[in-house]
Amino acid sequence: MGLDFVEQGREKMQEAQEDNLHQTLMDLRMKTSVLEVPQVEREKMTSRTMEMVNTYDDNIRNLTWGPMKTLDKESPPAIGEIKEGPTDNDSVMQDFNDHLVNAGLNFGHPTFLAFIPTGGGIYPAGLGAFIPAIFSTFTGFHGKNTTIIEMENKVIKWVADLFGYPAGHAGNISSSASLSTLTAVAVARDSKELKAADFHRCVIYCTEFTHFVVLKALQAVGLREAILRTVPVDKSFKMTAAGLEKQVMEDKDAGLLPFLVAATVGTTLTGSVDPVNDIADVCDRHQLWLHVDAAYGGFFALCEEKKQLFVGLERTDSMVANPHKGMFLPFGVSVLLVKDGRKLQQCCSMKQTPLCFKGCQLFSAEHLAPSELSFELSRPYRAAQMWLPLKMFGVGVFREALKEKLLLARYFYGKLKGTGQFELPLEPELSVVLFRATAPPGVNINNFNQQLLDGLNSDGKIFMTPAVLSDQFYLRVCVLCFRTHIEHVDLCFSLIQEKRLHLWESLRCDA
Ligand SMILES: Cc1ncc(COP(=O)(O)O)c(C=O)c1O
Repeated sequence: MGLDFVEQGREKMQEAQEDNLHQTLMDLRMKTSVLEVPQVEREKMTSRTMEMVNTYDDNIRNLTWGPMKTLDKESPPAIGEIKEGPTDNDSVMQDFNDHLVNAGLNFGHPTFLAFIPTGGGIYPAGLGAFIPAIFSTFTGFHGKNTTIIEMENKVIKWVADLFGYPAGHAGNISSSASLSTLTAVAVARDSKELKAADFHRCVIYCTEFTHFVVLKALQAVGLREAILRTVPVDKSFKMTAAGLEKQVMEDKDAGLLPFLVAATVGTTLTGSVDPVNDIADVCDRHQLWLHVDAAYGGFFALCEEKKQLFVGLERTDSMVANPHKGMFLPFGVSVLLVKDGRKLQQCCSMKQTPLCFKGCQLFSAEHLAPSELSFELSRPYRAAQMWLPLKMFGVGVFREALKEKLLLARYFYGKLKGTGQFELPLEPELSVVLFRATAPPGVNINNFNQQLLDGLNSDGKIFMTPAVLSDQFYLRVCVLCFRTHIEHVDLCFSLIQEKRLHLWESLRCDA
């Protein structure tokens, strides 16, 4: 009797505890139900988003903004803090409108002519980021998602075919050339079976124009102690194959371990294209890993008239091209190719099935999973940002758009040259133009051009960056935004003329 009573008491307590737990779970579910945004609310958010997209589009089309957007030159309102509770949706979207739409530096503006205009954000590519994000599309392994991974493989193969990469290659789509290069350098290190004890004897060859992502990649893969050689360039700022070979031989004679050459197709500063085919000959003779950074210049391979610059790319061991530059996609899409795909797999995949995947049968020898070809597991489905525009527009329009950029750079170069008032150190090979104005007698040419650049950028109508070559200050224009057309280049040219004259006269008056 006494025991039953105790037992009943225990059962009652258990029931009460379960009721409590149920109640708590129901409360939590109610409180978190906002995460499942109902259709009416979704539509409100979407329509506010579309308003912002249209405002952006109108302001860019009509040049209401320059590339440096400001709210009537005032600083934008302060950004609200993150709080425990919600903030009213309208004010959150207003913040986005103030800070993302109406302020900041706009790399996708038609008169943004600085650095490398990147992340142009053609609309279907934006949808390619949005749609998989909403559906939680997972692309780490095949599972039942084979088709979307095939879609990604087709995108990578399309890029590989563009550069004539032979069968047996593999690649991945990462967020940036920085990360693609990091992977390439890791694959090269493993493939050459470098031992940590020898890192200090390993030699990497680049030029002074090689992008710093190569150096960062070397640091990240443990090769900080390796020796970095700066190979001489010719008068067009291109790596010289003869200079490279001479250096490699000297290093070999000195008992060092020449290992990797980093060449560039389209250097950031000058747009020059290193002679990849000649460099590949040197690499073959000395068994060096040849990596090419084609982050900026790569997609100009679509243009028949530039094909000769890309000869030899099919001989490289690895290369990087950035669709978020040359194909006008939003930031976050870079393609890495490795000629011997097994090497990429060996570098990135696990020797054994990781414990958390044991028994899941997610990986197979037949279908390599993207996570076996990159350092990432979960990642956005970046291929969709290429797939949608490539399918919706076709390849041809990208070819034509890039041809337009090449011609615009030539046109701009020709206009500057025609005045006789500018020094132009280099004919544009791709879409970068370097120039500087001649200075009035007795005025330092570097200072004159620095002032010219400051004047141009302070106006807010255009934005460009300098190129300092052997201590000489040049102005630099890079045409790559898909929105940049002849009227924008004409505007840039007339502003340069106007500012140059103004500056010239003010200095003459001062003298
Ligand atoms: C030639 C070159 N390589 C690499 C990079 C870095 O690219 P990302 O920003 O995608 O890392 C750039 C950026 O402009 C570049 O011009």
